[in-house]
Amino acid sequence: MATATREYHRGSPTDLRAPCPVLNSLANHGLISRSGRDITKDSLLAALNEIGLASSAGKLLCNIAFKVHTDDAKNPPPGTAAMGFRDPDQVNDDGVPVLNLDQVGRAHAMEHDISLTRRDRALGDHMRLDEALYERLLECPREKKAFRIWDLGRYRKVLYAEHARDNPQLVFGVHQQASACLEVAAMQCVFGTGSRGGVPMEYYEAVFRDERLPFEEGWRPRKWMFLVELVGVALCVSFWAL
Ligand code: HEM
Repeated sequence: MATATREYHRGSPTDLRAPCPVLNSLANHGLISRSGRDITKDSLLAALNEIGLASSAGKLLCNIAFKVHTDDAKNPPPGTAAMGFRDPDQVNDDGVPVLNLDQVGRAHAMEHDISLTRRDRALGDHMRLDEALYERLLECPREKKAFRIWDLGRYRKVLYAEHARDNPQLVFGVHQQASACLEVAAMQCVFGTGSRGGVPMEYYEAVFRDERLPFEEGWRPRKWMFLVELVGVALCVSFWAL
C-alpha cells in the first residue's frame, strides 16, 4: 500500500503544524505538504481517504476548512464561513485555493477550549501538545491497554468541570462539545479495532506523542467507513460526556 511506504519524519522548526494530531501526522508522513504550507483541498482529501476516513466526512470537513474565514458567524459574506481557515485570495501559483496548517488553529473557527492535549487559548499554548495533559490522557482508560469511547466521554466530563472552574474565559457551547465528541469518534472509527474494541494505547501514543500513523504498531487503514457510523459514535461519546 502506498501509505505504508511514505517515510515518517517530524517537521523542522520552520514547518507549520496544526492543533490536530492527525493532520500533523499526515504532514509528517508526506501525505500532505511536509512543510504544512500551501495544502490544496485535493491533496487533503486524498490523504484523508488513504487513512480510511469516510469520504463524505472528508468532503464535508474540507468544504468547510477551505472556505475563507470570517469572524461574522451570523451573516457570513458569500464564499466565507466562520469555521473556514483561509485568508481572502489565498491561492498557490496555479490559482488553486490553499491553506497552511497553523491556520487550523485560528481563533473563532474550529479550534476550541478543553482539548485533550492542548491548553485553553486563554491559559496557554492552544497549538502544541502539553506534556502534563498528555500524561493525564494516558491515565484515563480503565483497561490500560485501550481507549474506549466511554473512557474518553467520561474524561471529557471531568475536564469540563475543571475548566469551567479554572478558566473564566472558557468558551465551550454546543458546537465545541459536538466537535470534541466528533474528534474522539474519528479516532475510534479510523484507529479502533472493530465495533467492540477500543483504540490500542500505543496507537494513541503514536498519534499524539509522535504525530505518526501507527503502522509500526500494526494499524492498517479501513477500506470502508460511512458518515453515519462517525455520527453515531460521536452521539455515544456525548452520552458519557454530558
Ligand atoms: C480536514 C480534516 C480535519 C480538520 C480540519 C481537523 C481540525 C481539527 C482542529 C481545528 C482541532 C483542534 C480542536 C481543539 O482545539 O482541540 C483538531 C483536533 C483533533 N483532531 Fe482533527 N481535524 C481533521 C481531521 C481529523 C481526523 C481524520 C481525526 C481522527 C482520525 C482527527 C482527530 C483529532 C483529535 C483527536 C483532536 C483533538 C486533539 C486534542 O484534543 O488534543 N482530526 N482537529
